[in-house]
Amino acid sequence: MCDGRIAAVGTRAQVEAKKESRRAEKLDVGGRVVLPVFVDSHTHLIHAASRAEEYELKIQGASYEEIARKGGGILNSVKKLRAATEEALKARARAALEEFSSYGTTTVEAKGGYGLDVSSELKILKLQGELNREQPLEIVSTFLGAHTVPVEFRAKPDGAKRYIDLLLEQMLPEVVNEGLAEFCDVFCDRGAFSRAEARYILSEAKEHGLAPRLHAEQLSRTGATQLGVELGAASCDHLEQVNRADIRALGSSQTVATLLPGCDFHLGWKNYAPARKLIEAGAVVALATDYNPGTSPTVSMPMVLSLACTHLRMTPAEAIAAATINAAYALRREKRIGSLETGKQADLAVFEVEDYREIPYYFGMQRCWMTMKSGEIIYMRD
Ligand code: NIG
Ligand code: FE
Repeated sequence: MCDGRIAAVGTRAQVEAKKESRRAEKLDVGGRVVLPVFVDSHTHLIHAASRAEEYELKIQGASYEEIARKGGGILNSVKKLRAATEEALKARARAALEEFSSYGTTTVEAKGGYGLDVSSELKILKLQGELNREQPLEIVSTFLGAHTVPVEFRAKPDGAKRYIDLLLEQMLPEVVNEGLAEFCDVFCDRGAFSRAEARYILSEAKEHGLAPRLHAEQLSRTGATQLGVELGAASCDHLEQVNRADIRALGSSQTVATLLPGCDFHLGWKNYAPARKLIEAGAVVALATDYNPGTSPTVSMPMVLSLACTHLRMTPAEAIAAATINAAYALRREKRIGSLETGKQADLAVFEVEDYREIPYYFGMQRCWMTMKSGEIIYMRD
């Protein structure tokens, strides 16, 4: 590698035969397995606290939606975020980013969505921008003002409509003018936003230059997936409740089907997304952590690979492609990251295993030995 990019790829003999190799510094990884780093294309990076108290309620039988209806869930995280200082939010996110890198991830998509008022949503996206500049991982920002209708609008007549007006008239223009996000996401589901609302929000965002993506068919089937395909969304994420027509639509589109098995695992749900059917239909399948305090509190892509192999019946090779190049494509960065090819950014992860299949095989174990970003070692296991 040279200037942070991959200068040559091949067998040892092929690479050593190049004349630039004579001056090159050698890094011996001791026969370990080298992969392109993971690209985590769906996270809710900035939040104030865990929701371990809700986790216990869920174990005792309360459902995710019941908790949300009583003011828990996303609204619980909104209350905590609004009360938190910028310093505290940033410190928590920074610590999480360090952990992401220790599991072999160097690019993290991050959504707002726990602020739900003008100043808090802007605060989250600004913090994401600062973190992007101040630490080694790349953060890709998504505006998710449409995560749910905040509590202060719920009691009003036409509350959802008035909140959407605020989102489009006040939040979106600021996000765009200040260059705070590349993507706009909507949680289109029962208890959140309808398909018609999602269409309205994402069309406006698209006109302002933000590429759409969607939380689609997680709790119920709303038709969000086909809306995403129609709008040319970068990805439709979750997809537990898709039907055959949705699978067909994804299969013949460029919209990435991003699966988040950490949610089903954490919530104890049995209906994992139909990964095999999506792959057979020709969909571009990606995997992500969905790191968030309510449904998927993990930063570990290797754990997501284990879930994808065991529960989604993806092969280890399919899961690795889904977590690297396909995820890079979902973030529109496939020309720069996501694979080990000459000219691409020198981002690589080295695993303490003998065979790449052992990466998902060992579950919940820390096997990442080194992470490199643009040619710099950013994590090394002691
Ligand atoms: O991706 N589904 C909506 N958003 C998050 C969870 C949000 C929360 O519970 O805090 C998700 O699962
Ligand atoms: Fe999410």
